[in-house]
Amino acid sequence: MEVMEAIKKRRSVRRYAKRKVEEDKLLRILEAARLAPSARNIQNRLYIVVENITGDLVEACNSQGWISSSPVIIAGILDPTVNRWADTDMAIAFEHMVLEAVELGLGTCWVGAFDESKVKSLLGVPGNMKVYALLTLGYPEMIPSSMVGKKNLEEIWARERYSW
Ligand SMILES: Cc1cc2nc3c(=O)[nH]c(=O)nc-3n(C[C@H](O)[C@H](O)[C@H](O)COP(=O)(O)O)c2cc1C
Repeated sequence: MEVMEAIKKRRSVRRYAKRKVEEDKLLRILEAARLAPSARNIQNRLYIVVENITGDLVEACNSQGWISSSPVIIAGILDPTVNRWADTDMAIAFEHMVLEAVELGLGTCWVGAFDESKVKSLLGVPGNMKVYALLTLGYPEMIPSSMVGKKNLEEIWARERYSW
């Protein structure tokens, strides 16, 4: 699949089939994260793969009920004291995973609305580490047919100078 095709096919998926994600596909997704660029190549990024999605975890994600249909959640963990680009580096890795998931026929959705201290305690994450975000992953039960509204190209760029 061409990169642009994956970019255009991607949707935030919030309904998943009751189907396990195969280990080889999971490892390919983590490999896509591993290869992502990072400032000074520090790679301040750890991933916890959660397949036991408990009610407590859903509740910690601001009780977003749809999350319980997801067979896998990947939590991105970083050390916030290491460097100021850590969040950006993790975001890049997340999007590598998101696009690799499209290639593999899987769906994802970022989860940024969560109670960090609850998630930390449920996943055993030490207090000094940061839970950056979570990513649901699974076979889509329902893929939104059209992309949600995006700004027009001419609205978002200019040549040479700021012109908004
Ligand atoms: C940093 C970040 C955090 C997000 N957090 C949530 C979330 O907690 N719950 C949710 O349902 N969607 C979440 N989303 C998904 C966005 O709502 C979604 O990307 C946006 O509506 C555009 O839709 P699209 O991804 O289908 O293009 C998040 C996306 C990003 C990038």
